[in-house]
Amino acid sequence: MEQLQSLRGMRDLLPAETPRWQAVERAVREVFDSFAYEEIRLPLLEPTALFARTSGDTSDIVEKQMYSFADRDGGNITLRPEGTAGCVRALIENGLIRQPQRLWYTGSMFRHERPQKGRYREFTQFGAEAVGFTGPDVDVELILMMATLWQRLGISEFVTLELNSVGDAEDRARYRQVLIDYFAAHHADLDDDSKRRLEQNPLRILDSKVPDTQAIVAHAPQLGQFLGAEAGTHFADLQTLLRDLGIDYVLNPRLVRGLDYYNRTVFEWTTARLGSQSAVCAGGRYDGLIETLGGPPTPAAGFGIGLDRVVLLVEEAQQTRARGAVDVYCIVGDGVDAAAAVQICQTLRVQLPALRLRVNQGGGKFKTQFKRADASGAHAAIVLAEDELASNTITLKWLREETPQEKLTTADTIAKLAHWLKARSSVVND
Ligand code: HAM
Repeated sequence: MEQLQSLRGMRDLLPAETPRWQAVERAVREVFDSFAYEEIRLPLLEPTALFARTSGDTSDIVEKQMYSFADRDGGNITLRPEGTAGCVRALIENGLIRQPQRLWYTGSMFRHERPQKGRYREFTQFGAEAVGFTGPDVDVELILMMATLWQRLGISEFVTLELNSVGDAEDRARYRQVLIDYFAAHHADLDDDSKRRLEQNPLRILDSKVPDTQAIVAHAPQLGQFLGAEAGTHFADLQTLLRDLGIDYVLNPRLVRGLDYYNRTVFEWTTARLGSQSAVCAGGRYDGLIETLGGPPTPAAGFGIGLDRVVLLVEEAQQTRARGAVDVYCIVGDGVDAAAAVQICQTLRVQLPALRLRVNQGGGKFKTQFKRADASGAHAAIVLAEDELASNTITLKWLREETPQEKLTTADTIAKLAHWLKARSSVVND
């Protein structure tokens, strides 16, 4: 008899894998809780019209990827490809839209994409939506929530925040015409998909993965030049807040996102560790969506985390750490007695048996030693300086995070490193 198999792009998670999923899920829930976001549970099936109206008729999701079918009573229904539309529908339907809401949800999403590592037809998202806030402070809150999660999971060093503003509807309308003119001038060299999109949704061409089209896109006018005063101020204020919080980001003027409901802030957290499926989390502001669905005009913003990719990244981080031999690198300042340095390191090793501590050998300027520390893959450096040792002070510097260095006693250094070891093992071994 023919052996039946799971559908393409749909996976079984076996008992060997579920503990890691549970650990990551727990971490996400705890972070959402700590920002006082509340859980909402939503149906897997929604009317097809919900997604056609929200994601945009010409989006890849609506055009190519939805699992849509006729219900037995004739209605057209769709397995949700994403969570924002259903969440907003639920808020309007249940009369919750008038009060501000901070919500999260989780569960399977379905997209008929070409499966590969990190891309599945059934995948899990954790989403958060903050409804009723104009921002940009809430945009920053959402970003901070994600940054906190990456830190909790020990993957901060593997992810980058990419940021852009897609402006307001009027800004995009002006930009749209400029883009149409630009791409029309290169019409013959565009791929077929992009030719089709030229009149319907030229912004989507910016997302094209076709190399020849990408070469044309590289010289296209940028949306940033068309931002109106309000969207411009929103974006500038957002960046100031991020800088104040020490959250690193890179501006990516080509980031337009594949769903049509965004305005102003859009962002993606990307990683270089998962091949072509680089986005682990994405989102932005969608101030017009609620009105589109028949609700009162209400500003909102949110994000979706691709949990399958985050779990892969946590595994990758664990393997990288297992490969790298060093947790902490000891930098020895000029004039520090070598025996004293060895002695301090030995105290740390005795107190923290799980810590892999390498002491610098062969001297070198601070800069050289920091380079060696970085190359060793160490997560932190301790710096021993001649004038500080007399007062029993060690400088502790985290090498993969944007936190300021601290001057600590030996006991406090041990306590900090013990805390870090504990956090690491709870993620990696759970
Ligand atoms: P999205 O960018 O379509 O946004 O999806 C969010 C994340 O889900 C992606 O960054 C990726 O990590 C993950 N993801 C998407 N497709 C797949 C797939 N086929 N396999 C595995 N992971 C995948 C949204 O869905 C919006 N609802 C996000 C949002 C919430 N915007 C505002 N609020």
